[in-house]
Amino acid sequence: MHGSQDAPGDEAGIVEDLRHRFLERFGGTEGVRFFFCPGRVNLMGAHLDYNGGPVMPVALDHGTYLALRTRDDDRVRLAANLSSTSLEVGLRELPATATGSWADYPLGVLRHLVLEFGGDAGLEVLFGGNLPIAAGLSSSASITVGTAFAILTVWERERDLFACIRAALSGEREFVGVKCGIMDPYAVALTQPGHLLWLDCRDASFELLPLHRGAFEIAVVDSGVSRALARGAFNERVAQCAEAFERLKRACPEARCLRDVPAEVVEAEAAALGPLLLRRARHVALEVRRTFAAKHALLRGDFETLGKLISSTHESLRDLYEVSTPELDAIVDIARSWPGVLGARLTGAGFGGCAVIVFRACSSEGLASYVERGFQDRFGRKPSVYSFRSGGGPRELFPPGTVGGSERATGR
Ligand code: GLA
Repeated sequence: MHGSQDAPGDEAGIVEDLRHRFLERFGGTEGVRFFFCPGRVNLMGAHLDYNGGPVMPVALDHGTYLALRTRDDDRVRLAANLSSTSLEVGLRELPATATGSWADYPLGVLRHLVLEFGGDAGLEVLFGGNLPIAAGLSSSASITVGTAFAILTVWERERDLFACIRAALSGEREFVGVKCGIMDPYAVALTQPGHLLWLDCRDASFELLPLHRGAFEIAVVDSGVSRALARGAFNERVAQCAEAFERLKRACPEARCLRDVPAEVVEAEAAALGPLLLRRARHVALEVRRTFAAKHALLRGDFETLGKLISSTHESLRDLYEVSTPELDAIVDIARSWPGVLGARLTGAGFGGCAVIVFRACSSEGLASYVERGFQDRFGRKPSVYSFRSGGGPRELFPPGTVGGSERATGR
């Protein structure tokens, strides 16, 4: 797609840069190992995971890269390319509450791993990568799942992806304090290249659905609006949905979560809900229907319908769930006026961050510059447009014993 940018740096370049910075931050690179964990973009099922509904995320070929080695003592040192501050703490004296820094994400994971598996060796970890941060592409799950995967590997514990998911969820919910649903860690841990993850968040059952290579492509546009206030607003939406479910349970006693309450019951209970909770519950009930319809459209290769459903989701997020911004609405409107665009919506929690555009592969020429121009006319600055490919779960780069692995692992 001309005019768009691949997020900076190819894999070899990113690893060399990380190796160099590891040397600067920790001194020496002997024994260091490298890991990758993807970000994700969700196509359908917006704000359904914490309501027990289905979601349809795709893992990206961009994400978090970690350089990591064990120490002979129990000290843990954490550093990140994006921050000049680093953190040092003993494995047996990890803080019990969040510190307010970027390091809370890996610290929360580490606390969980020490409780579940015991922790025998201290660590030095440097975080880098090529994913836009706090843009709705799940940089947090990319960091937390990647941290768990890398640590379990170097501690020589079984690399169980579900253990990584548990650690990621515990770190983010209990330590960082975001009441997130299960979608993000499942998406970045389990999705395979060329597929999306169909995850039913009521019972965590999942399947991989093929993406029909070449039939449509996905671009992501960063609105550049920081999601600084997103955590509070996100937790507020979670609480509103919980309250809506409390009020709807009387009319729908068999329901186990808001996802189980049909749209007709939501409408019939409008007075009990009041206008605000009615809007939230209406979004959830209709989004559940749209997401099942999107799955069936994808399976039968009906991408027109899939695209229309994606755009309807945006309208619902804007009008009923009220998590959009003028910048995200503009990106969606501009993109949808381009021939060949099937659909567009904000992705992630909203309140800023990114929009995702789904378009016919043959119509990509000029799309990025069209969106950039249209946005610049309205807001006086250019948004970043990324062209991502679908990726798959966490992995070690050059594992010891593979070609290039031992040489790279010693840092010579
Ligand atoms: C954030 C959360 C996810 C999900 C989405 C909205 O990204 O981390 O768990 O709730 O918002 O769909």
